[in-house]
Amino acid sequence: MTQDELKTLVGQAALNYVEAGSIVGVGTGSTVNKFIDALASMKDQIAGAVSSSLASTERLQALGIKVFDATEVDELAVYIDGADEIDHAGHMVKGGGAALTREKIVAAQSRRFICIADKSKYVATLGGFPLPVEVIPMATRRIARQFEAMGGAATVRHKDGKPLVTDNGQHILDVTGLKIADPLVFESEVSQWPGVVTVGVFAFQKAHVCLLGTDDGVETLVF
Ligand code: A5P
Repeated sequence: MTQDELKTLVGQAALNYVEAGSIVGVGTGSTVNKFIDALASMKDQIAGAVSSSLASTERLQALGIKVFDATEVDELAVYIDGADEIDHAGHMVKGGGAALTREKIVAAQSRRFICIADKSKYVATLGGFPLPVEVIPMATRRIARQFEAMGGAATVRHKDGKPLVTDNGQHILDVTGLKIADPLVFESEVSQWPGVVTVGVFAFQKAHVCLLGTDDGVETLVF
């Protein structure tokens, strides 16, 4: 199966975790787009969604799914999102689509995180994928040096020849060369650096379930 077919497979499988009458937490990215498309078939059975990005909001609304603001809802039963990497304990690297801050917020508001990913995302140790970190622009240089001291190399993400600006008006650093042996400790430490808005390690908001797309079908990993 192609990677695209695997994404479709897990996007559809995630419908089993959507409770009738509920408001669903919805992530961002190409895998989640498959989930959103599948969710359209259930739009009359759910109350709506809380979205983690402007891109997902637009896609949900275009399919006739009501989007609530996160502040209108106390708690969500499930949050469904992709990952750039996921390890054997459900820790993830996220933010390849630059939506990591709102993703972490909606994940924290949800009782269960259901990760949908193709098999290429399942890794032994996080850090192979360049780690996205959303930062306040004036802190970029200093934060890059702090990553250098850890053995990493940070570059500002660009789009159309200019620094990419996130939905929150900030910049993204992509950090290569890191081996994130203890994701909880790493997330805890980097989150405290002045100017860091969100680090793309999701250890405190880790996945509870991963629906992994493989050539043999969907493998369900429970953490
Ligand atoms: C978006 O900011 C990310 O966290 C995505 O969830 C992650 O990059 C996975 O994206 P794909 O499903 O497009 O691979």
